[in-house]
Amino acid sequence: MSADGADLRRRRFLTGAVTVVGGVGAAFAAWPFASAWQPSERARAIGAPIEVDISKLEPGRLLTDKWQGKPVWIMRRTEDVLTQLPGLDGELRDPKSEEDQQPSYATNEYRSIKPEVLVLVGLCTHLGCSPTYLKAGDPQLGAEWKGGFFCPCHGSRFDLAGRVFAGVPAPTNLVVPPHKYLSDTRILIGEDSGGAA
Ligand code: FES
Repeated sequence: MSADGADLRRRRFLTGAVTVVGGVGAAFAAWPFASAWQPSERARAIGAPIEVDISKLEPGRLLTDKWQGKPVWIMRRTEDVLTQLPGLDGELRDPKSEEDQQPSYATNEYRSIKPEVLVLVGLCTHLGCSPTYLKAGDPQLGAEWKGGFFCPCHGSRFDLAGRVFAGVPAPTNLVVPPHKYLSDTRILIGEDSGGAA
């Protein structure tokens, strides 16, 4: 190889290197502008806590929101539901919530801060499908079904505290996210007295 040929190759390499570094610099330069344009979108993307108004949530109804890109369910349970939950313990895999699937303040019979208000991440603990809420006696699960969540992907079932039934593919109860009450009608999801998740 001639000395001229080596010089030419070296010049081409250096030109390419400068172009790549310039491209990276432009990408970094663009980021602050993009983040300044859409602060709320950015907050959602990084999983900031969300505030949910439950003032219009009637007994027996479920509302869905989104936190960290995941569905979050909030349900106001009826007195009947609260009464029947302990009677299901014998059919469940982890009736006392011994697995680490909830904060300590939700490690109780109802898996919630207030007995009537259930807060769950709406993703099946098997492979992550989003289950469907089926009312008591829904024809898909028969007259014995007392209401809860059914995952159509592989047939996992959960009661109205998000506790998994024995004998289905899902290994654990549904997750209770960190949350706290800002008032009687507003819940902050993604943060509790210990800070943001
Ligand atoms: S993902 Fe729900 S049962 Fe498999």
